[in-house]
Amino acid sequence: MLLRELAFGAAAAAAVRAAARLGVADALTGSSATVDELAAAVRTEPAPLRRLLRALSCYGVFAENEDGAFVHTDMSRLLRDDDPQSLRYIVLWCTEPWTWDVWPRLDEAVRSGSSVFREVFGKEFFDHLHQDAAESAQVFNRAMTTSSMQSALDVAALLDLTGVATVADIGGGQGHVLASLLEKHPEAHGTLLDLPGVVARADSRLRDGGSLSDRARIVAGDCRQNIPVDADLYIVKNILEWDDESTGKTLRNVIAAARPGARVVIIENLVDDSPSMRFTTAMDLLLLLNVGGAKHTRQSLVDRITRAGLTVGEIQPVNAYLHAFECAVPVR
Ligand SMILES: C[S@@+](CC[C@H](N)C(=O)[O-])C[C@H]1O[C@@H](n2cnc3c(N)ncnc32)[C@H](O)[C@@H]1O
Repeated sequence: MLLRELAFGAAAAAAVRAAARLGVADALTGSSATVDELAAAVRTEPAPLRRLLRALSCYGVFAENEDGAFVHTDMSRLLRDDDPQSLRYIVLWCTEPWTWDVWPRLDEAVRSGSSVFREVFGKEFFDHLHQDAAESAQVFNRAMTTSSMQSALDVAALLDLTGVATVADIGGGQGHVLASLLEKHPEAHGTLLDLPGVVARADSRLRDGGSLSDRARIVAGDCRQNIPVDADLYIVKNILEWDDESTGKTLRNVIAAARPGARVVIIENLVDDSPSMRFTTAMDLLLLLNVGGAKHTRQSLVDRITRAGLTVGEIQPVNAYLHAFECAVPVR
């Protein structure tokens, strides 16, 4: 039974994506709504919308009342744009069109241990995203924003910045972690480094005219090429999930940029310590397909960090799903 449902997992993913794209959760504003009301609000035919909602309610995303009207559930509320814990962009990100082109090749990727992305799209994942898939790039940035806004405060709460005057966030996305740290530590200065298309939309607090702009520098660059940033503390959060060569190059570039003794805090989800193993292992497989990468175990990450030349100290949970590895650039 379960195996048949599992084999139809794509239908569940497509249904949740369709609801997110149509904005059904946002349209359900009152305590309940009929299918006709919802269909008018999201501009669909009522009968197929009922079929979509029925499929979703099997999984607890929306629920149907006895009178046939639909109500929110905890999960359907997370599809709303205005929910503080909204997962709408994470749902879209996990089901973007490119994902449907790479999943069928999972057997090949498992056989070779390598990404299939270049074979399917003719270029590397981030090049495709930024050059050919503007809408997916936007969805990616919004999804990263959602997840990093939610974790930025946890990171700021955990990290002790005693003695740290300058902090750099490498591959820091739109800079929410950096902005939270600078807000919490009014003496600190910070640098955000990420790809040009990403920093162009950096958090408005960090940009010219923003509340933190006098203490923030934004660098558009490629951390695998060069990290032209001198800082007391380097943060490397959720980027060491790609191929090992990129991980090694990035860490070695941090070491080359940093002074001996500088702190490097590496923050990752761990595949052997996750409260949500189905999500984490699914993301692990998607990382294999798109960037030839992986979610790490505690040990596999320690191995890679050590091999690059950093020393690893304390490993602490940041929140339920992230861990921080406190590392240092060796004093030569
Ligand atoms: C999963 S996101 C994590 C973003 C951020 N650190 C966070 O935790 O929210 C990975 C980030 O790495 C960036 N990235 C990918 N390739 C990069 C490169 N070669 N140089 C710099 N940043 C890169 C992406 O643009 C993206 O912002």
